[in-house]
Amino acid sequence: MPEPNNAMRSVRAVEVFYFVVVSTYLSIVMCGLVVTRKLQPGVTWMQIRKRTVDRIWPRRTHGTLPHRHRSRNNDADRIDEGIERWKRHSRSQLYLERGGEVIPPPMQANIGITDICNLQCGICGSQNMHQPVNRRHMDMYIFERVAETLFPMLTTVEINSRGEPLLHPRMPEMLTVIASHDIFLRLQTNGTQFTGRRLENLLKVTGEVSISIDATGKTFEFARTNAKWEQVDAGIRSLMDRRDPEHLGVSIYPTLTAKTIRDAPKLIRWAMKRGIERVDFHRYDPIYGGSEEIPSDDAIQHVLGFIDSLDPDHPIEVSLDGVTRKVGALPKTVCPMRKKPANSPRPIGSDGHPAFECMAPHQLVDIDLDGRVSACCYLQNQTLGNALTAEAFADCWFGEEYIALRHSMLRTSDLTPLYKTCQDCVAGRKP
Ligand SMILES: C[S@@+](CC[C@H](N)C(=O)[O-])C[C@H]1O[C@@H](n2cnc3c(N)ncnc32)[C@H](O)[C@@H]1O
Ligand code: SF4
Ligand code: SF4
Repeated sequence: MPEPNNAMRSVRAVEVFYFVVVSTYLSIVMCGLVVTRKLQPGVTWMQIRKRTVDRIWPRRTHGTLPHRHRSRNNDADRIDEGIERWKRHSRSQLYLERGGEVIPPPMQANIGITDICNLQCGICGSQNMHQPVNRRHMDMYIFERVAETLFPMLTTVEINSRGEPLLHPRMPEMLTVIASHDIFLRLQTNGTQFTGRRLENLLKVTGEVSISIDATGKTFEFARTNAKWEQVDAGIRSLMDRRDPEHLGVSIYPTLTAKTIRDAPKLIRWAMKRGIERVDFHRYDPIYGGSEEIPSDDAIQHVLGFIDSLDPDHPIEVSLDGVTRKVGALPKTVCPMRKKPANSPRPIGSDGHPAFECMAPHQLVDIDLDGRVSACCYLQNQTLGNALTAEAFADCWFGEEYIALRHSMLRTSDLTPLYKTCQDCVAGRKP
């Protein structure tokens, strides 16, 4: 064995020096991981990484739902587009750190701002309850908090209440807030409030107004107890005269009962004269309460025959229960959600998502009078948190229950939707 010379000694000293530096560094890193509880005995690096991904997309989704590092397809695009929408928010860092890197924000919020109404329609379960109801408007403070938490990320807000939304005393300011965020508004109204500042500010938003008019004249007044036909007709006339059709679409949403269906041809002619773009007939649904009767099949056939006799070149569009019977002109205002997969169960196809039965838990939030969040209007008894602050909304939207609900909507035979209501809804039964 040769004696080590000076050169060999200094090489060994350098090796020992590097060994000490590297092992000290590794010890510090390992201690840090143990203290922050990321590494436990027997857990490998791959397991830590997978655990983080699993928290966001539980295991079985990996095969179907590519996260953003996988090959590009609709969902990678959806996630990238979602990151851009999170970034519009002043608290984007919080949202992105909490899960926004892989979970896109909602696109639409349906906000119930009141359960007070000025009418008492025979079809309406919510205004004909037997027990007394403590009716109220949403507090403006709650609306402002929800707007600050959600509006920067949204494309669409739907105001669709159990009462009449345009009756809300702060409606003019609410419309200004919506217009300032460049959000598409969808509004369902009974058409009795198209006057003053409400009308002025409504004319400034981009969106579509759907008016619940089931008939004309006396039949209308019979169906919409307390409403006056002359006053409603005059309000709609000023809306139609003053609105910019490039920004505000107007349709009617008549409920067909045994009585109102007799007036349907007259109603269509009235709508054509006023320049209404669409008539969306739907049948009275006794499941929502009310004291009316459903129309007979013969009466429905008669209305369909009348629709078929309309001039095909007239721009009006007419549908029944969501099925277009007469095609109209191309709409000038298109809700951004129309181009997205549906927020209700659909088969794979034009508006069904390829991987999920229902996109409501991915794209929509339903907000109640107190700012609480649920996944859709059928799940209002199943609140998942609130949208009053960014922190509270992050807890809710990235929370385990919301993630489990989204996951349970996967189109795989071994999964059933998390809630019974969703199971019925996906099976085609009324929730
Ligand atoms: C509850 S209202 C709230 C918005 C507003 N007050 C209005 O009437 O447009 C929402 C919509 O549901 C419709 N509707 C209410 N009860 C119904 C029922 N039992 N069957 C079918 N549609 C119903 C109304 O005509 C209205 O178009
Ligand atoms: S106007 Fe709307 S909320 Fe009011 S009673 Fe009629 S359907 Fe119900
Ligand atoms: S009840 Fe469930 S399945 Fe039906 S629309 Fe709501 S989230 Fe979708």
